[in-house]
Amino acid sequence: MSPNSIKICCIGAGYVGGPTMAMIAKQCPDIEVNVVDINEARIAAWNSDSLPIYEPGLQEVVQEARGRNLHFTTEVSESIEKSDVIFISVNTPTKTFGIGAGRAANLEFVEKCARQIAESSHSHKIVVEKSTLPVRTAEAVKRILQSATNPNASFDVLSNPEFLAEGTAVKDLLNPDRVLIGGECPDAIEKLAGIYGRWVDAERILKTNLWSSELSKLTANAFLAQRVSSINAISALCEATGADVDEVANAIGTDSRIGPKFLKSSVGFGGSCFQKDILNLVYLCEHFGLHEVAAYWEQVIIMNDYQKRRFSTRIVHTMFNTVSDKRIAVWGFAFKKDTNDTRESAAIYVCRDLLEERARLTIYDPQVKLEHIKRDLEYLMVNEFGELSEHHRKLIDSNVEVASSAEAAASGAHAIAVLTEWDEFKEVDFDAVYQAMKKPAFLFDGRNLLDREKLAQNGFEVHAIGKP
Ligand code: UDX
Ligand code: ADP
Repeated sequence: MSPNSIKICCIGAGYVGGPTMAMIAKQCPDIEVNVVDINEARIAAWNSDSLPIYEPGLQEVVQEARGRNLHFTTEVSESIEKSDVIFISVNTPTKTFGIGAGRAANLEFVEKCARQIAESSHSHKIVVEKSTLPVRTAEAVKRILQSATNPNASFDVLSNPEFLAEGTAVKDLLNPDRVLIGGECPDAIEKLAGIYGRWVDAERILKTNLWSSELSKLTANAFLAQRVSSINAISALCEATGADVDEVANAIGTDSRIGPKFLKSSVGFGGSCFQKDILNLVYLCEHFGLHEVAAYWEQVIIMNDYQKRRFSTRIVHTMFNTVSDKRIAVWGFAFKKDTNDTRESAAIYVCRDLLEERARLTIYDPQVKLEHIKRDLEYLMVNEFGELSEHHRKLIDSNVEVASSAEAAASGAHAIAVLTEWDEFKEVDFDAVYQAMKKPAFLFDGRNLLDREKLAQNGFEVHAIGKP
């Protein structure tokens, strides 16, 4: 490694920081990349053979670079001190308390990071916002960095939002549609662009001012989520009229101006970004008195909540208006396939509704553990009711279990609810599953994943999204 080569520190070893830094380290063997986190267990997992996040192809990327120029450590200050470029990749959840609760982003972790960078810096640093942040956060980060006491410390702040989608992170990082860098200092922008430029074509590296970069991330996610809510809105109309939402999506998607992507109707979008970013956008609009604009974007979330609720209500209505003491096999808990991430997963909300109706749930997800499922359900109850009541604790403890396969979850169940589109669900032996279920054997396909006609031949009563 040449003495002049760049050293990078990334604060936050999560779904964004981990894969992004692993890719930079893989593509740039001469750049030392240190990924730091305060969570010791997470760092230990990054240093082991079982990574803390499930992402196809990631293990190979990590293995290639780890120990060579990629290091995972809890030594935050030391890593900051020796680095030239510092990425902030910490979590920015929606605030659950105080001013802006339920809408604004909680910037506590970003602020703590900025303070730690200020304290530990003894030279010039380029500080890069990687986490999704409200517009003008860079301004706050800059002001905090000014509190640095070391006379040799100085900073440039850049915004470099991440556009990777979970489940395809490695592909997205290797071949991004674009890399966006926002900032004021041309030298700093060029230095960061030079890192990505090792494997990304120059014309795909977009350079903007700071605020455009921050707002572009929120806007991209708002547009994507809006497409899902739009097709989900149409799915309700399809069910009422006899149209088929997949046929409609296909028909409109062939219009090159509309395009075919992000038109898959579902039980509702989830993930750590869509809802959080739209809420941020709504909060921002309200802050600037743009109430009509705020209401416009908020409707995307209202429609998503409606879609989740509509699905659970349909299950209850279809099953003779009661699921009390009935066993429902839940196939999939992650917010989409190929990830172990459950943040804002529609499954949490649907399971909550079914539990409220006293259903017994047997959940199978190839990547999500029982402890995480219970944690998510408890967290939702606390968010909604302010605390976890004895009643809800008992419901979660006694009515939620996991199975080791989709078939095992369905054995003896009254119904199956498909909540994540894992490919393996298409390979299940549905004849055997049908035989092992209570009759009528209901199947609610929240992802329009399975072949309805075949399932009907197997004997299932199938209910899908936006289908006549
Ligand atoms: C998203 C953005 O795609 C990514 O660019 C950004 O950096 C982070 O947020 P992610 O949340 O990982 O990525 O997943 P994404 O593939 O966008 O899916 C989000 C949700 O929408 C999932 O629950 C998915 O199942 C749902 N979805 C997506 C649909 O219901 N229908 C679709 O057609 C597409
Ligand atoms: P994302 O999906 O944005 O990557 P995650 O929650 O998966 O979010 O990861 C964020 C990580 O940031 C967590 O592992 C958390 O422990 C870490 N983190 C938060 N604050 C700090 C901090 N001040 N210093 C170091 N790591 C931090």
